[in-house]
Amino acid sequence: MRQSSLVVVANRLPVDDTVAPDGACEWRRSPGGLVSALHPILQHAPAIWVGWAGGTDTAPTLPDIDGVRMRTVALSEDDVRQHYEGFANATLWPLYHDAVEQPVYHRRWWESYQRVNQRFAEAAAEAAEPGAVVWVQDYHLQLVPGMLRALRPDLLIGFFLHVPFPPPELFMQLPRRAELLLGMLGADLVGFQRAQAAHNFAQLAAKVLQVPATDRRIAVEDRVVRIGAFPVSIDMAEMEVLAARPDVVAHANQLRKDLGEPQHMILSVDRMDYTKGIEHRLKAYSELLADGHIKVRDTVLVQVVVPSRERVEQYQILRDRVEREVGRINGEFGRVGEPAIHYLNQPFDRAELAALYRAADVMMVTPLRDGMNLVAKEYVAARVDGDGALVLSEFAGAAAELTQAYLVNPHDLDGLKLTLMHALEAAPSDVRGRMAAMRAHLRTHDIQAWARSYVTALDRSGSLMTRLTS
Ligand code: G6P
Repeated sequence: MRQSSLVVVANRLPVDDTVAPDGACEWRRSPGGLVSALHPILQHAPAIWVGWAGGTDTAPTLPDIDGVRMRTVALSEDDVRQHYEGFANATLWPLYHDAVEQPVYHRRWWESYQRVNQRFAEAAAEAAEPGAVVWVQDYHLQLVPGMLRALRPDLLIGFFLHVPFPPPELFMQLPRRAELLLGMLGADLVGFQRAQAAHNFAQLAAKVLQVPATDRRIAVEDRVVRIGAFPVSIDMAEMEVLAARPDVVAHANQLRKDLGEPQHMILSVDRMDYTKGIEHRLKAYSELLADGHIKVRDTVLVQVVVPSRERVEQYQILRDRVEREVGRINGEFGRVGEPAIHYLNQPFDRAELAALYRAADVMMVTPLRDGMNLVAKEYVAARVDGDGALVLSEFAGAAAELTQAYLVNPHDLDGLKLTLMHALEAAPSDVRGRMAAMRAHLRTHDIQAWARSYVTALDRSGSLMTRLTS
């Protein structure tokens, strides 16, 4: 059994199962999201990544990817239904996102969540060298830090939550709230996207567990757990290189031609998720068309929706509603060869996304609640030409940093309409000034800076960082 001084534990392994030109199955590093977030730091250490490869009942042996060893955890069909689709994505996900959908509580889902977390903790314990750093990611694995500490008290354990952490009045709904908090408190450092989330966590620890807690430190038994905000980011340099590639620029120009050379192109890119505010955005857009503020020939909206969690009931209902609304809007306002909304429900590769980002005059990112939203940051990174307006929800973590975006409350439909019009009609100097400020921020707050700041805070003695950078 191979071991490492750095182990990352996440629900998903950073790989996709692709088919090579000769028909053989090939594993590639998957783009975007959490996986690209951790990629840079993993390149510098002979790390092991513990996670699920997708699918059921299989634990394929995977090749090293960019020098990182993959250690697969198998999930059965029941585990996927109850742990991943159930407790993680039908209980915790909606609860942590302001309960914009009703969280569902089932005792058997909780049992499955515990079993699967134990399996991940055991796999991490086997992969970690004595004294290693283990970095556990996200809401699927909140019990792992506590379980791992019980198995391996010698380890330095970090936990980072990529999604929001809710206020006490919501979290208190959870039937097994104390166990979840204690699970996270098994870590030495618990990281969140925003300071508000750390504050919520501290309040809950004090209330539910009756332990001394501030927004920086929580005392549990004989240990002190540090907590704090570490806003995640993107690989700015990678996106800039991609967006400047001649084929990507040509593709962006071609997209504008294919769309009929409109005066304005508006873009949205979301996972198909009820937290993303897709329906609110469509309603605002449809009202602007009805009011005559937007004309189909001059302005096009390209709405990309990437399929996600398709077996979960709330996601199926959302897809039906979005598609019915897009059909209604196109039926009412479109013309032959000129739909009001270009709707695409399919996965997109990085180069295609970069071309879309470069082609769009206005990017609308209007979630009802979002831990960070890396799409907003990717749009900014892709605008190497210094152009492009970002309309951004106040309820995305990214709004705390990208303060020069056209910020909006997506629940306020009139505000949403006004802000979109404002972004469409803004003077080029205003658009460019805002974009320059956001790009400058991301240059110093990229993914490398995020990973460095988290690992430095976790590894206060500096031993791991010395090993990583030597
Ligand atoms: C969010 C979560 C990630 C998750 C991603 C995609 O960003 O924070 O942990 O991987 O959504 O969702 P999926 O269910 O496909 O992993």
